[in-house]
Amino acid sequence: MGLREFVVLDDHEALVAAAAERIAAVLEAVGPRAAVCLTGGSTVTPVYRALAAPPLRRRIPVGRIDWFFGDDRFVPPDHALSNVAQARATLLDPLGVPAGRVHAMPTAATDPDAAAREYETTLVAHYGVGRLDPARPLFDLVLLGMGPDGHVASLFPGKPQIEESERWVVGVDDAGHPPLVPRVSLTLPALASSRALLFIVSGQDKRPALSRLLAGDDLPAARVRSTGPVTWLVDRAAAPQTLIE
Ligand code: 6PG
Repeated sequence: MGLREFVVLDDHEALVAAAAERIAAVLEAVGPRAAVCLTGGSTVTPVYRALAAPPLRRRIPVGRIDWFFGDDRFVPPDHALSNVAQARATLLDPLGVPAGRVHAMPTAATDPDAAAREYETTLVAHYGVGRLDPARPLFDLVLLGMGPDGHVASLFPGKPQIEESERWVVGVDDAGHPPLVPRVSLTLPALASSRALLFIVSGQDKRPALSRLLAGDDLPAARVRSTGPVTWLVDRAAAPQTLIE
């Protein structure tokens, strides 16, 4: 298991700049073929915009990267709530990523579970075999946000999907958290198959969950592991006192 590090940034603007710089630094160093797992949520949107704009955009080796998703809402791919629509508009289209390198969750499937099984097939095809090998992570970089209840991707506290240990992708019929639409989510083992994992967390509504996580509470975000380092970039509004002292 990799190291866990917390970095507190002065404000939201500094958080966005630090996150974009770290992502660019990881991506410019990847090998000939890399896989990145994107997150949804509002915090990451300005980070995506910064990556797609000068000066960072020229550090992104677009021709070498396949883009995947940690979760999506079970809505059409052009819907206002769609994570892939958000990523396309703010990052992938401005970077000129070819359509074949964007691996969206198949939300036109009959139901979230069917979409999850289909997406798992996509991931397995990309990885080459159906068993994850810690020596060869599925993703070079995983991005995650954290909800105020401590959820990650679409793995919510108290829901059975958080316990999944075999499947790489699961359907979530009842999110129990706004927006109240069904979801499709990578599981903890799939997210953990990563060379690096970066949390980007902003705002005072996240502070109670971060406090609980630091105190050792069993939240979904506390269960996230990676083969490589797990870095938490947190702005001051979200940071509990123990991280600021
Ligand atoms: C989603 C997510 C979700 C998100 C957190 C944080 O599709 O909503 O991937 O896990 O990252 O809820 O969201 P904010 O950045 O909006 O706080």
